[in-house]
Amino acid sequence: MKILGIETSCDETAVAWVEQVENEFCVVDSLVSSQIRLHQRFGGVVPEIATREHLKNLPQLTKDLISNNALDLNEVDGIAVTVGPGLPTALLVGVSYGKALGVALGKPVYGVNHLEGHLFSPFFHLSKKESSPTRESSPSPSESLEIPFPMIGLIVSGGHTLIIEVKGWNRYHKRGGTVDDAAGEAFDKVARMLGLPYPGGPEIEKWGELGNAEAVDFPQSFPERDNFNFSFSGLKTSVRYFLEKNPEYQERAEKKRDLCASFQKAVVDVLVRKAVRACQLIGSKTLVVAGGVACNGVLRERLRQKCQTHGIALHIADPTLCTDNAAMIACVAAARLSAGIDPDLAGDFNPNLHF
Ligand code: KG4
Ligand code: ZN
Repeated sequence: MKILGIETSCDETAVAWVEQVENEFCVVDSLVSSQIRLHQRFGGVVPEIATREHLKNLPQLTKDLISNNALDLNEVDGIAVTVGPGLPTALLVGVSYGKALGVALGKPVYGVNHLEGHLFSPFFHLSKKESSPTRESSPSPSESLEIPFPMIGLIVSGGHTLIIEVKGWNRYHKRGGTVDDAAGEAFDKVARMLGLPYPGGPEIEKWGELGNAEAVDFPQSFPERDNFNFSFSGLKTSVRYFLEKNPEYQERAEKKRDLCASFQKAVVDVLVRKAVRACQLIGSKTLVVAGGVACNGVLRERLRQKCQTHGIALHIADPTLCTDNAAMIACVAAARLSAGIDPDLAGDFNPNLHF
């Protein structure tokens, strides 16, 4: 089985080619053309710019994928495209392109939920190749796919913060989520307050490395034991008030490091505590973690320690697959087809798609 994946839900244009031989999945190549630099000066993603870039980049990126790997588009068994959630016009570009290709090739076009892509991305592994500043290419070894249902999924990205109980394909039960900002959004907004560039997550992590995470004690939202909701807007406001009262934390480098480490600790603590508690509550021995914020080294290490203590198997996406990519979209379609749970044929895109 050969699947072409297309992802354009936000500010990364991505395509990937996945092949399945028996129970083995092989990501032949996964290309991501990032627009981060274009959006940087606005401090966040500008939908119209994202859409124009997808229109410009998607056909070329697909050509590159095909020619770099000597592939033949006529050999695909299907095309998998992200149908939501995401920016409406950005999704429209990918869905229209995927459908046009499907018509031209006479192949089915499957619609994949972007969140489902993130959720299962820890099970698809890529090996790294050289990457340029704007493009990452990651061919992979083959990988057999066995998903250890039931499990708890923690999705933490710029647009989402979710705790989901996953009993099987299509059997998803949201246990909690953010009532306001997503975790990545909080990193981005606090970075902006500190004069650090977008995206803020990697910047805060870098600044926090040498900082004292105990320097400032920020409050945690929804501290009740079995409440799996988050509020990162409250944390962001606490940081704002704190900076107003203590401007030296913005002005002096060593204080800024402390602030970054303390803020990061507040986010990591609440994510780790709630994800592990959700596993205990439903009796799941498996935690899967994905999304851009899962690149964070402190979060990864804390999850590793806590899961070890509690006897939970942790599956955390490779950093190359944490941020948006099309390999996860193609793999979900391929995995569903091979499990006999056919993905839906791509209909309309849905910016508000959820589980
Ligand atoms: O998954 P993603 O690429 O896009 C969405 O679907 O939203 O996630 C991007 C988010 C940004 O908010 C970025 O600041 C955050 O992931 N991020 C991080 C790190 N790397 C990226 N947050 C914390 N620490 C990081 N190292
Ligand atoms: Zn995403």
